[in-house]
Amino acid sequence: MTKHVISITVAAIALGAATLLPGKTVARPVADVAEGKAVFNASCEQCHSATSKDVKVGPGLLGLFKGGKLPASGKPVTDANVRARILSGGGGMPAFKGSLSDAQVASVIAYLRTL
Ligand code: HEC
Repeated sequence: MTKHVISITVAAIALGAATLLPGKTVARPVADVAEGKAVFNASCEQCHSATSKDVKVGPGLLGLFKGGKLPASGKPVTDANVRARILSGGGGMPAFKGSLSDAQVASVIAYLRTL
């Protein structure tokens, strides 16, 4: 019940923030760590460990945002680079453009930041 009230409040605040920011042409997707974890478990976990750096199919993502470089490409660990990889895939990873929404991608990145 309390949880419900909190999520409704959070949603209301998010909606309020979106309407209070005119002039922005693209609404910033609202990242949600819990949603990101659910997305990760459904779409990433079969290939990536969240609890180690060991390779499953792709590199383990524990501490991803605490390292300076992405494990496969060696690019800097930024939201933009991680988002690009998720959307475009490559090197054995599927592209998620079209199957994950902008909000889901933002949420999975928010979750990766907690690892
Ligand atoms: C079918 C297996 C598979 C799935 C599903 C998958 N990946 Fe990957 N991922 C890989 C492989 C393999 C690589 C290494 C690619 C390479 O060597 O270039 C990789 C690389 C990455 C990297 C490192 C990119 C870099 O530039 O070093 C990140 C971050 C990543 N994946 C995140 C995700 C996220 C988040 C999801 C879920 C939305 C996901 N992956 C789903 C297989 C997968």
